[in-house]
Amino acid sequence: MVEHMMASRMAGMKASEIRELLKLLDQPGIISFAGGIPDPALFPTADFAEATAEALSDANCAQALQYSVSEGYLPLRRWIALHMAGLGIPCAPDQVMITSGSQQALDYLGKMFLSPGDTALVGWPTYLGALAAFNAYEPYYEQLNLNGNRAAEDYRAAAQATGGLVKFAYLSADFSNPTGETVDRAGRERLLALAEELDCPILEDAAYQALRYDGAPVPPILALELAQKRDLDSCRTIYCGSFSKTLSPGLRLGWVVAARPVISKLVLLKQASDLHTATLNQMVVCAVAERAFDSHVARLRTVYGRRRDRMLAALAEHMPEGVTWTRPEGGMFIWVTLPPHLDGATLLAQAIDTAKLAFVPGQAFFADGSGGNTLRLAFSCADEAATDEGIRRLGVLLRAQM
Ligand SMILES: Cc1ncc(COP(=O)(O)O)c(C=O)c1O
Repeated sequence: MVEHMMASRMAGMKASEIRELLKLLDQPGIISFAGGIPDPALFPTADFAEATAEALSDANCAQALQYSVSEGYLPLRRWIALHMAGLGIPCAPDQVMITSGSQQALDYLGKMFLSPGDTALVGWPTYLGALAAFNAYEPYYEQLNLNGNRAAEDYRAAAQATGGLVKFAYLSADFSNPTGETVDRAGRERLLALAEELDCPILEDAAYQALRYDGAPVPPILALELAQKRDLDSCRTIYCGSFSKTLSPGLRLGWVVAARPVISKLVLLKQASDLHTATLNQMVVCAVAERAFDSHVARLRTVYGRRRDRMLAALAEHMPEGVTWTRPEGGMFIWVTLPPHLDGATLLAQAIDTAKLAFVPGQAFFADGSGGNTLRLAFSCADEAATDEGIRRLGVLLRAQM
């Protein structure tokens, strides 16, 4: 009704039809592989209860319930600095900023770098929430190619043709959402070389990095760059971490590690946006991280790793010829590619209706609207019996259409 009164940036913000369909999931008997969320049965609830009581004790409540600094709670930034050192990125607390989830970091980074008409390099597909965050700043997108098949000059020319500059490359390099795939070390090094040529930052979204079930860890892109440059303040990679997939998404706790000039601008954006992330949440997450992060993540790896194995086994048993899927070494997702004549969104409507089954059609993850014949399956919340039955139903549905 009032749309004509709104700023041009609102034109790119549309409710997704898929979200509407996924609201139907509360029906009894539905097996859902749609939500890319942690299993609530695995939340470290007792640790949170204890840490919350402590934060609200007489000794701590004046701080926990008060305003605090935009950079974030210092003991939590110290914990993160230690955690990052373990990943090959030694940093100081003033190279860390706490955010209200890593989603907030993506919004701030869009705001920091993108003028209308600039170009962001993203994967085809990429995390839908990153596209949603960046869309508000009215960019164009170009496909980020990590095979080294596309020269920096080519990207530059494409950005100029639409009246802007290449402003950053965004990727989730470990167990990505939606494909579950990991960029190998050579791909990360090619990306660093490309960003150097384009003189643009790399936004490294590490939301799933801690959830590795097998295979050798690949150093974060920021660690590879730091090894070359020796000084974090000279690095162009901006690392976005999150406690959502490890401890709790509901507390909205994430962080950014980057060069001080980037952090100081992010702090200005945070001051202008929400002043700071909830103090109580930061204190609670800090206490739980100090006490239980490693042991809790070890448990998640065991349980989610088993669920991934079960879903892979069920896919091998039930998928018809012509359907392919990824074999992720971690994270929460398996990405399925169907024969080109099939459409994921049409299939979802049928799946909910006739098979009491849900997943996310892949097209929304493509900035160019391609990928109609893809699906994302989340295995994080699926118990083993439901996985077998859900994948069997998917197989029946697909066979009927092949
Ligand atoms: C790749 C990726 N990045 C970032 C986020 C945002 O997570 P949060 O804001 O909860 O840290 C998600 C959430 O699903 C994600 O999948």
